[in-house]
Amino acid sequence: TEEFCQVLVCSLRFPLGTMSIPSLLVLYGSQTGTAQDAAQRIGRQAQRRRLPVRVMALDSYAVADLIAESLVVFVCSTAGQGEPPDNMKNFWRFLFRKSLPGGSLSRLDCAVLGLGDSSYPKFNFVAKKLHKRLLQLGANMLMPVGLGDDQHDVGPDAVVDPWLASFWGSVLALYPSLTSVTPLREDERLPPTFTFHFLVGERESGDERLRVSEGEAGPFRARMVFNRRVTEPSHFQDVRHIEFDVTGSSMRFAAGDVVMMRPRNAAEDVQQFCLLLGLDPDATFLLEPTSNSPVPARLPRPCSVQHLVESYLDIAAVPRRSFFELLATFATDELERDKLVEFSSAAGQDELNSYCSRPRRTALEVLADFPQTTAELKVDYLLDLFPEIQPRSFSIASSLKAHPHRLQILVAVVRFQTKLQKPRRGLCSSWLASLDPEKGEVCVPLWVKGGSLTFPADADTPVIMVGPGTGVAPFRAALQERLCEGRTANVLFFGCRSESKDFLFRSEWELMVEAGGLTLFTAFSRDQEEKVYVQRRVRENAALLWELISRRKACFYIAGNAKQMPASVCDSLKEVFQQEGGVSADAAAQMLAAMEKTSRLQSETWS
Ligand code: 2AM
Repeated sequence: TEEFCQVLVCSLRFPLGTMSIPSLLVLYGSQTGTAQDAAQRIGRQAQRRRLPVRVMALDSYAVADLIAESLVVFVCSTAGQGEPPDNMKNFWRFLFRKSLPGGSLSRLDCAVLGLGDSSYPKFNFVAKKLHKRLLQLGANMLMPVGLGDDQHDVGPDAVVDPWLASFWGSVLALYPSLTSVTPLREDERLPPTFTFHFLVGERESGDERLRVSEGEAGPFRARMVFNRRVTEPSHFQDVRHIEFDVTGSSMRFAAGDVVMMRPRNAAEDVQQFCLLLGLDPDATFLLEPTSNSPVPARLPRPCSVQHLVESYLDIAAVPRRSFFELLATFATDELERDKLVEFSSAAGQDELNSYCSRPRRTALEVLADFPQTTAELKVDYLLDLFPEIQPRSFSIASSLKAHPHRLQILVAVVRFQTKLQKPRRGLCSSWLASLDPEKGEVCVPLWVKGGSLTFPADADTPVIMVGPGTGVAPFRAALQERLCEGRTANVLFFGCRSESKDFLFRSEWELMVEAGGLTLFTAFSRDQEEKVYVQRRVRENAALLWELISRRKACFYIAGNAKQMPASVCDSLKEVFQQEGGVSADAAAQMLAAMEKTSRLQSETWS
């Protein structure tokens, strides 16, 4: 009812008659924030048209209420393997219930906008499936499904912009009274989502929620036990083996599960940010919503500026176009304004791409490039300017059976060079690497989640695992778990650059091999002239693999961060089937597809 009243209040503010003005609901399912950003953009466009609007994550919305809505846009991304993002999983389950009657949504006008990457085989799978299902439930689809594509030169906007333009066309056709409203100009600033109320003499409150529940809403504060570099000091890459103590938590996890955590911004970045904006890091404030967006539950009340900037605002990410749109409205210096307006325009996206996306320039660096504008920024807009820092996931690399009350991960510290002078750093891996439990207690709020890999329950099923580099993490957990249960039919293909530099967990594998619990094959890509990769070792061991897969019904797993690796390993596997099974290329491909369908072939990749 509260929501209903808010809609009513909004409708009353617009003197066009409640019947003729719909209230728009924008629901998003977003994993990394792209779909959320697009949803918020639609929200802003609605506000410019003075249309009452709510923008919500799908799982924060009571789905059963959909029958009472009139106009809804769904914005959803598709994760790598075609699965829906985490914050729409409950919605997804509900929507595909067989018991939902066919005409349930016949009063609903809606549209689906997908965001995906056409280099993945299941391109925009979630959006397409959602569109179909809504049709089945009787909804009136205003638009063909929008297929935003990250592979586009200028990003998904190349598809999304025209799609949105025709979406608004359909809405205006449906509600002609809207055409009499003059929309706000693009360069007119909308009100902020929250206003800041600074407090005098009050300190930040302690974070009670951390002790209340476990999961994203109340992560467990785990003590870091060790943080060891496991590659040789001379190796190009710093890989860390990190252990957390989870004693006292109700956390349970199995091989294949992942741990989630939110990184923090580096102290020097927080300091520079506060300097640029003239903010006192110690000042405390309360947020007051200006519309129906709830205050982020994760922020303490009161919250300090230091905490907000360090733990909430994603100032180290490459900023999106919406950042420039809003920033431009603060520009007083003509040169700065011209540049910012160009970056916000459709025509300026190529330019923005070379300025920001390609060299991976961070939002903080952009602020430093536009000092006059930055000095004019109003603190109330901070939460509109910067997205929230997203949680990151890591495959759990240990088993509770082998390491009770402990959770271990394997982290490659991401560092690379672009045309910018300062090396680029991965926010989460650099933050983790900077934590040193030997210098004092370090606690990291974390929670666990089912991963995309599941290992066979049946005691006799062998497993074959291909995990080059840090891809070996979930397989270490699986091996620990399986060996504790006495399951010894395990094959591991491990690949790295050099036997002496980055052969992760070498001594552990050797002990397992000696004990008769592991068959290990290694590919050291750079220890000889010609590159040798795990997929070659797969081909070389065709007879063994065929025996395990065809006769003993083994499960096959692939994990790692090299984009091409899983496809190459699958190609090798097809060759194995052809060679050893004497089947045609087509039949081999079908066998592989069948294994995938029955989860006997699973893969997990990340970048
Ligand atoms: P490279 O860096 O020498 O190319 C772990 O990162 C290992 O995976 C490294 O030995 C790396 O080799 C290798 N690797 C990189 N790309 C790969 C691919 N497409 N297929 C298999 N292995 C790959």
